[in-house]
Amino acid sequence: MRIEALTGESLDAALDDVAGLRIRVFRDWPYLYDGDLEYERGYLETYRNSDAAILVGAFDGRRLVGAATGTPMVDHADDFAAAFEGTRLALKDIFYCAESVLLPEYRGRGVGHRFFDLREAHGRSLGATVSAFCGVVRPEEHPLRPEEYRPLDGFWRKRGYAPLEGAVARFSWKDIDQTEATRKPLQIWTKVLTEDER
Ligand SMILES: CC(C)(COP(=O)(O)OP(=O)(O)OC[C@H]1O[C@@H](n2cnc3c(N)ncnc32)[C@H](O)[C@@H]1OP(=O)(O)O)[C@@H](O)C(=O)NCCC(=O)NCCS
Repeated sequence: MRIEALTGESLDAALDDVAGLRIRVFRDWPYLYDGDLEYERGYLETYRNSDAAILVGAFDGRRLVGAATGTPMVDHADDFAAAFEGTRLALKDIFYCAESVLLPEYRGRGVGHRFFDLREAHGRSLGATVSAFCGVVRPEEHPLRPEEYRPLDGFWRKRGYAPLEGAVARFSWKDIDQTEATRKPLQIWTKVLTEDER
């Protein structure tokens, strides 16, 4: 597998495949996202021609099998300002690692780590002192929770992330078992990007 930070034309060329990956991977627990290609195209447009954004692709030959994105948090101020209000963090200091999606058959080979390594390095190069991402919080008793599901919390903690107390964002999407979009809480996790690593 080849991991590459995409920019310019190669980034543009990959965006439709990233949309397809998001729809495929986020259909599973815990996202249960009933994806929509038109919405995806609009959402991903922000990555086109943005110097501050990063799109990391994982390729098997020429096929895109995984992708991770990141942008300065200020570019997502509308979505996140409220969630950070009660914290001591300023949006301008934060780099936001948005999604990490990898087809199931390619997992467990270190790609998830590479996705974070490259995005955190990009955030540092932009002067960010904190890296953040968010994960959906589902009720314990949710009927679609798979018995064998292994949460990613251990992976995130090992990378130095912890849930930021009181920082919860809200996003709406339609779950695969619902007829209308509903709002979900997403816990924000953060990590200090230390001087040593800069
Ligand atoms: C997140 C994701 C990209 C990680 O990919 P990955 O390539 O399997 O990750 P890695 O191989 O680098 O493994 C990372 C660590 O997590 C552990 N891990 C791997 N699969 C795991 C799983 N299903 N559940 C929990 N931990 C797992 C690994 O053991 C590894 O730990 P280590 O550092 O001790 O070796 C992938 O699991 C994925 O696409 N998940 C679905 C989408 C999602 O939930 N994304 C996160 C929110 S946007």
